[in-house]
Amino acid sequence: MPALVVPRSSVADSVRRAARSGQWDDHPAYTGVARMDDGQFDAWTDRLVADAREGTPRPEGFVPSTNLWWVDGTEFLGRVQVRHRLTPRLRDLGGHVGYWVAPAVRRRGHATAILAATLPVANALGLECVLVTCDDDNVASRRVIEANGGLFQDRRGVKLRFWVPTA
Ligand SMILES: CC(C)(COP(=O)(O)OP(=O)(O)OC[C@H]1O[C@@H](n2cnc3c(N)ncnc32)[C@H](O)[C@@H]1OP(=O)(O)O)[C@@H](O)C(=O)NCCC(=O)NCCS
Repeated sequence: MPALVVPRSSVADSVRRAARSGQWDDHPAYTGVARMDDGQFDAWTDRLVADAREGTPRPEGFVPSTNLWWVDGTEFLGRVQVRHRLTPRLRDLGGHVGYWVAPAVRRRGHATAILAATLPVANALGLECVLVTCDDDNVASRRVIEANGGLFQDRRGVKLRFWVPTA
């Protein structure tokens, strides 16, 4: 059974495979992974975990974020990031929650399950509702959001914005 776990080195090989899939998105927290050696990978997972702490140094305009991986045994299947609060840019574009599923395992319900498993995490962070956005042509992501109770708020440019209750 897959579960959300804290980023860890035990799944490094399958994370690197996913990063070489050609569809690894370029979120700043996740760049360069395919080329990391073991030491760099360990240090990177430490940074991902530390990103949840308020006092961790981060670039201007970035807020604390909880990074979790969707893992089955040693197989990395996907990832999710929960931004702890909204900036003007996140309010317009990125929202609280962003998820990504490895291309090899898409269309098996993983993203729907990832968001479902993430909502209690967001709730524990004090977020009663999370803003989740998707591009207007991202049919899969829209279905994921709506399957998890997302209520359409509005459209900003190509972004559709939904509020998803966490409890
Ligand atoms: C969008 C994404 C997360 C979906 O992941 P997934 O694990 O394939 O999603 P699921 O299997 O849970 O599918 C959810 C729904 O979308 C549908 N779906 C999945 N891929 C689809 C596609 N390419 N075209 C149309 N529908 C699709 C599924 O059939 C399912 O519909 P249902 O609930 O009616 O059965 C994945 O494609 C991805 O990581 N894309 C790149 C990153 C991204 O777009 N992230 C979201 C940012 S908003």
